[in-house]
Amino acid sequence: MLKKNEKGGVLVAPSILAADFAALGQDCRRILDAGADWLHIDVMDGDFVPNISLGVPVLQCLHKAVDAVYDVHLMIRHPHAYIKQFAAAGADWITFHAEAASSVPQTLEAIHAAGCKAGIVLKPATPADAILPWLADTDLVLVMTVEPGFGGQSFMPDQLSKIRRLADERAARGLDFLIEVDGGVNAVTAAQCRAAGADVLVAGSAVFGAADPAAAVAAIRG
Ligand code: DX5
Ligand code: ZN
Repeated sequence: MLKKNEKGGVLVAPSILAADFAALGQDCRRILDAGADWLHIDVMDGDFVPNISLGVPVLQCLHKAVDAVYDVHLMIRHPHAYIKQFAAAGADWITFHAEAASSVPQTLEAIHAAGCKAGIVLKPATPADAILPWLADTDLVLVMTVEPGFGGQSFMPDQLSKIRRLADERAARGLDFLIEVDGGVNAVTAAQCRAAGADVLVAGSAVFGAADPAAAVAAIRG
């Protein structure tokens, strides 16, 4: 499984939550031209998190207009019920929260059955231990380094030990899931995540809001 890209360093997945929604396709192309690897799509339902962002129709249109790897982060109460729709709309990766109401193994299975790569997301208060039984069945674990719901928050350094723990567990068991980190990632915190064992870094404001996005992507990649 691809861990590092041909440019070296980690994969960079800018979050479109920080994009200009009135010119979404154009803004995403600008960031991909700047060297981004994946587009991170934050889906919020106003229930699992106290915010509403975007859903299936936006992904469907964006996917038709912009050629990219789509990393869909579901911050919704019932992810299992929506897997087929997001897969049909163009998701390549679908990640869902361990804390949501859907069964973790059933949701992993549904994502794979829909032809996508699957990932489990952990909120800051959820320990790595909560998902140890499913590490062999997942393609990725996403460690949240802010409370999910909003972009532009500060990185929580106490989550670095969770990244290290997952990297240790992966090595000890000979597994190959990717470790993704999301929330408050910038050039400084990206270096800490890479040192802890992260493979994919999500960054919203630090990339879409940068005066020089190519420099921002390169600095996060390391
Ligand atoms: C938070 C989202 C993140 C967020 C990242 O709920 O999952 O993807 O948009 O934004 P920044 O990089 O600005 O913290
Ligand atoms: Zn996200």
